[in-house]
Amino acid sequence: MSKVVVFGSFVVDLMARSPHLPSRSETVKGSYFQMGAGGKGFNQGVACHKAGADMAMVTKLGNDSFADVCLNVMQDLNMNKEYILTSEKKPTGIALIMVDENTGDNQITVVPSACSDIKIEEVNSLENLIKEADYVLLQYEVNQDANERIKELALKNNTKVIVNTAPYVEVGDDFYKNLYMVTPNEVEAEAVTGIKVDNLENAKKAAAIFREKGVENVLITLGSNGVFVSDGNKEEIIDSFKVKTVDTTGAGDAFNGGFLAALSEGKDIWQAAVFANAVAALSVQKLGTTPAMPSREEVDKFLSERNN
Ligand code: ATP
Ligand code: RIB
Repeated sequence: MSKVVVFGSFVVDLMARSPHLPSRSETVKGSYFQMGAGGKGFNQGVACHKAGADMAMVTKLGNDSFADVCLNVMQDLNMNKEYILTSEKKPTGIALIMVDENTGDNQITVVPSACSDIKIEEVNSLENLIKEADYVLLQYEVNQDANERIKELALKNNTKVIVNTAPYVEVGDDFYKNLYMVTPNEVEAEAVTGIKVDNLENAKKAAAIFREKGVENVLITLGSNGVFVSDGNKEEIIDSFKVKTVDTTGAGDAFNGGFLAALSEGKDIWQAAVFANAVAALSVQKLGTTPAMPSREEVDKFLSERNN
């Protein structure tokens, strides 16, 4: 099994469910509140770790009580805390998440705080870690200059870079050069390529545009419709698993973390996409983001039941 790194945000998720999402200036009485670990990077790291990978999590916390939410989860899950950075100036990030309890639709405001202030010297100190890893997974919830520096270190040391292009931010075209893979959802794929990914042909067009920018493999997640996979030779949609959905927040993170874990075991990207679909399908059956990530035993059981 190869080593992998997830570099990205930790934030505390403050999640409220209500009968509908508030419209402008409206206050809606909610039915449920949950506070827990979140942030795209951390969700993906936890999904990857719980799926059985040898994964190092890099993120940045404030010097405050919200940081304990992260550290306690890492302790409980027996995760390596060696690469947790701390800011003395900025607080731990937060996300305000509203979920419509009837449709599962959500609205999120994320404030990355400490994770928007990762210093280049801090990134430079990670070179040995990056060098030892086969893959590093990034998202867009940290300051982009830190992502750019990680990418430089990775390419210098022959480590493959996967970018989950979430949440969408505009980055220079150069950033896409020499990426091993991007994993946008439909909205992000359209924002980057200008192509509305509403069928297989358009997904292929969007993938071609990513490839022109210098990306080797393109995976576009399609929510309950599964995932479009393009490796340059073969391009197909792999269906999702049909399950009873409770909360889809963090489904993309479950997918990305599960995918990385599968790659680290030597699965090819097609096998990894099926495994990741299973991790994500299990996550949407539970409330919350990090707390919804399944264990390896759950994933294996789910897959063996679906294959029989
Ligand atoms: P989010 O922003 O909510 O974390 P996302 O938009 O990044 O999600 P999606 O494309 O919605 O990501 O979903 C990612 C993956 O999760 C899909 O490719 C699929 O495998 C799985 N998935 C999402 N929704 C469902 C669902 N309702 N049932 C089964 N699997 C799902
Ligand atoms: O992808 C879901 C995540 O996005 C949440 O955990 C929230 O923190 C936001 O960043």
